[in-house]
Amino acid sequence: MKIARVTLSDRASAGVYEDLSGPEIERVWAAHDGESAEWVRVLIADDRAEIEGTLRRLCDEEGCALVLTTGGTGPAPRDVTPEATRAVLERELPGFGEIMRAQSFAKVPTAILSRATAGTRGRTLLVNLPGNPRAIGECLPLVLPAIREALRHLRE
Ligand code: MTE
Repeated sequence: MKIARVTLSDRASAGVYEDLSGPEIERVWAAHDGESAEWVRVLIADDRAEIEGTLRRLCDEEGCALVLTTGGTGPAPRDVTPEATRAVLERELPGFGEIMRAQSFAKVPTAILSRATAGTRGRTLLVNLPGNPRAIGECLPLVLPAIREALRHLRE
């Protein structure tokens, strides 16, 4: 199965710091899921047009079954991942973001600052994750059962 992990970060894409979040997605996926993945790895800036174009390409041309983004979900002016994601989604699945926020909130009160969403485009499932590498370990396992089930439905 082809899975894209897309890091959205002005600073990591400019080389100011290392992208730890993208590799963390692969680590958490491998630790919780038996299904082997062919990874498509992307690191780009918080630029709405570039994010939208990248997400469309990963869905429509690369044929990824799943696109996991990390970063750009917060309230800062440059955080545009949810807007770019919604622009390419055909159907939104708001429960993904709701559960990540609700379940993380008990441990991390700032979890409500993430506006992460999810949904489908064609046969591709797209899911936003917050940008903090620790947040990936906190959020991705919560939604993995739903990701697996959604992927089964999308293959039908
Ligand atoms: N969720 C979890 N589980 N753990 C975290 O550390 N960080 C929060 C929130 N969600 C966090 C979290 C913070 S501080 C912010 S600003 C938002 O995610 C958005 O982060 P992003 O803009 O890097 O996506």
